Amino acid sequence: MTKRILSCMQPTNKLQLGNYLGALVNYVKLQEEGAECLYGVVDLHAITVPQDPQILRQSTRETAAAYIAAGIDPKKSFIFTQSAVPAHAQLAWVLNCLTPMGWLNRMTQFKEKAGKKKDQASLGLYSYPVLMAADILLYQATHVPVGDDQKQHLELTRDIAISFNQHHAKREFFTIPEPFITGEATRVMSLRDGTQKMSKSAESDMTRINLTDDADMIAQKFKKAKTDAGMVPANAAEAQGRAEALNLIGIYAALSDTSKDAVMNEFGGKQFSDLKTALSDLAVAKLSPITSRMNELMDDTAELDKILKVGNDRANELAEPTLNGVMEIMGFWS
Ligand code: AMP
Ligand code: TRP
Repeated sequence: MTKRILSCMQPTNKLQLGNYLGALVNYVKLQEEGAECLYGVVDLHAITVPQDPQILRQSTRETAAAYIAAGIDPKKSFIFTQSAVPAHAQLAWVLNCLTPMGWLNRMTQFKEKAGKKKDQASLGLYSYPVLMAADILLYQATHVPVGDDQKQHLELTRDIAISFNQHHAKREFFTIPEPFITGEATRVMSLRDGTQKMSKSAESDMTRINLTDDADMIAQKFKKAKTDAGMVPANAAEAQGRAEALNLIGIYAALSDTSKDAVMNEFGGKQFSDLKTALSDLAVAKLSPITSRMNELMDDTAELDKILKVGNDRANELAEPTLNGVMEIMGFWS
């Protein structure tokens, strides 16, 4: 079976190191394997929480620019915007009607995002994982590169697809997608709290490295990153229960394309300040070309818009047969 890759990011705030190491690096890897890849900027997902329209438009281009700057080649992969492909919302509605609320009640991301104000959260935020399932199933994707936090949503997507195939299509209509979650940093944690994941929406900017941070900012953030009173652990046993130490080691391993074990071998027994200095230098070396390419792309939005137009046309073309099939199966008049 040929591979079809689909993944997406929300155009909210600036992309951070977790997006890069947990997802984007694998987008590029799969592209280089020669698979057909579609990478979406999911603005319909973004409005599940309030957005400023001007900023949303800007962030949509910025997310596309980050994809390209990180290595997505528009000649090899398609980059599209979700709202330009109406089939996402159409399929999501059908799947909303077929998904039991009990399945959604288990979703931990909703619980985290809605917090204590569950009654004030939008219906869209609640049904967001169903829209995500539609994003994936619409393209009959075989593999979905994401960070570890999206695993539960991928499992829901698979459950929805299996149920649709069994009870409605009565055949293998939807491809059952596989999550692609690999690398040494599938869950990058906050620099200030090893129990929280690094997030672009966290209040404090010091908790994350943004793809747009300059060298000084990166150095300052790693310098102030929380660690413990010990030395850098030299092996897995010494690292146990030391979330902050493991996080820095994982980031270093992912950025240098080695393993956590190799990093612990190199830095074990040294001061954390040694690891932090090396980490800053490495992060700057890896991220600064991406940042400057992103800035260049944002200076020429006409070119970016052209790339998105090509991607949107292709996404619409690929989505159409799936949506038509679903409408037929559901008994819609046509
Ligand atoms: P989002 O920022 O929620 O749109 O996430 C876009 C992609 O980045 C998804 O595949 C996430 O799983 C991934 N991602 C976001 N934050 C992290 C993190 N801290 N560590 C690893 N992957 C992440
Ligand atoms: N829910 C994902 C996130 O918050 C973003 C997303 C939306 C996505 N649709 C998707 C990821 C489809 C992979 C495939 O990170």
